[in-house]
Amino acid sequence: APSVGLVGWRGMVGSVLMQRMHDEGDFAHINPVFFSTSNAGGNAPVITGAGDAGKLEDAFDIDALAKLPIIVTAQGGDYTQRVHTELRGRGWDGLWLDAASTLRMNDDSIIVLDPINRDAIDASLASGTRDFIGGNCTVSCMLMGLGGLFKNNLVEWGTAMTYQAASGGGARHMRELLNQFGTLNSEVSSELNDPASAILDIDRKVLAHQRDGIESSQFGVPLAGSLIPWIDSDLGNGQSREEWKAGVETNKILGTAGSKNQVIMDGLCVRIGAMRSHSQALTLKLREDLSVAEIESLLANDNEWAKVVPNTKDASMAELTPVAASGTLDVPVGRIRKLEMGPTYISAFTVGDQLLWGAAEPLRRMLNIATG
Ligand code: HSE
Repeated sequence: APSVGLVGWRGMVGSVLMQRMHDEGDFAHINPVFFSTSNAGGNAPVITGAGDAGKLEDAFDIDALAKLPIIVTAQGGDYTQRVHTELRGRGWDGLWLDAASTLRMNDDSIIVLDPINRDAIDASLASGTRDFIGGNCTVSCMLMGLGGLFKNNLVEWGTAMTYQAASGGGARHMRELLNQFGTLNSEVSSELNDPASAILDIDRKVLAHQRDGIESSQFGVPLAGSLIPWIDSDLGNGQSREEWKAGVETNKILGTAGSKNQVIMDGLCVRIGAMRSHSQALTLKLREDLSVAEIESLLANDNEWAKVVPNTKDASMAELTPVAASGTLDVPVGRIRKLEMGPTYISAFTVGDQLLWGAAEPLRRMLNIATG
């Protein structure tokens, strides 16, 4: 079995990756070598059936890393920045599988999302590509839900208006959101217990706490009971980096960048108080006038995870929410209807677990492709 270096396996994305690898029996096909940025020499995690776990290796030890044919990292962009260049600089030509965005748009890397671009993955493996990078979570979840339209070159342009979960910021952000919900509730718990209390008084107290005193060091501003209409850095042209990714990564994954099939994608990215599933409302301009039934059948048949939700109130409320999608590999897609703008304009809404298809799952599957 090939030796595979695992870095960042203890963080949030890394933990989800480990759990998925465990659930799918992936450790049976590899010899895992665990690295740590902070605890080298400590005990490596015990993998059932994998024999002696051994000691954690130093994730900054380039010699140790360079011995491995494959490295998988969920350690984050700073780590990639620091280690990848040095490794490649000394001629290491192993496979680098990475959840961070650092290398994503490099010409010599490919963004991995095999249910959408398996052909491109196979071709680039064959032609010597060595950097395989997971896509932005919103982009991956959108393509998983709407692959049937995008892969068949049916989308001329689209806007994605996102509702992104706290987990996209990281583990500390999720904790902060829950603490915010908690302190908001405590501020007014006696009033809430008194049915005679006035809701506008409660609202005033909540707002006062949101504006002055609520702990929001991770997000910078309160998220609980509010939202944040900006994600990632400011590119200086009015667009956020997250919004920029939608267009460039979609086209890179589809292999349409610069071609006549290029899809124009843009939109606004918004953080909301969901836990770990990103949602997005899409307006798509199609290249053909397809019926809603045709569209739904294309989506449902594209991949086994896209789950078409009928465009009814009951089904949308039950099946098309972060609560419904979280912790599952299903990517529900619904609210599909023709918009008033004309027969080739449709709406769609899709939800995906940001830690699964949005981060860990494409990497896990890429590891299997590489070692298969
Ligand atoms: N940038 C995403 C977010 C997470 O902040 O939600 C990772 O792709």
